[in-house]
Amino acid sequence: MKDKVETLRIDYDKDTLDIKDLNADPIVQFEYWFDEAVEANVPEPHAFTFSSVGAYGKPTSRIVLLRNATANGFSFFTNYNSRKGHNIDVNPNVCANFFGNNCSARCV
Ligand SMILES: Cc1cc2nc3c(=O)[nH]c(=O)nc-3n(C[C@H](O)[C@H](O)[C@H](O)COP(=O)(O)O)c2cc1C
Repeated sequence: MKDKVETLRIDYDKDTLDIKDLNADPIVQFEYWFDEAVEANVPEPHAFTFSSVGAYGKPTSRIVLLRNATANGFSFFTNYNSRKGHNIDVNPNVCANFFGNNCSARCV
């Protein structure tokens, strides 16, 4: 496993992230990155890892599909009776992680 994982490394040197280049509005910045991912044909750029924490402090993650992003937040469709639904009820602190593997534009 270790050998296989080491050979899979992609070099992400082409672009850098500097806080001074970011838009002050996080949603505007997100839209910019999202458009970049769409233009680069990233598969399912609206899919993201959504992490939540349940009553016993145990974190869980799963993939969901973004429906909208506004100043009110990010939205996705789900079942309120799912594990993530119950988690959000007891703890509204969650995490959304988008992986924009834009190799054509970002990787050497
Ligand atoms: C590509 C992809 C997209 C998915 N989109 C959603 C979604 O938008 N909403 C959702 O509730 N589950 C979605 N799922 C299923 C979730 O990943 C998860 O298995 C399911 O919601 C149950 O999660 P939970 O038991 O942790 O609540 C998606 C799965 C995949 C692979």
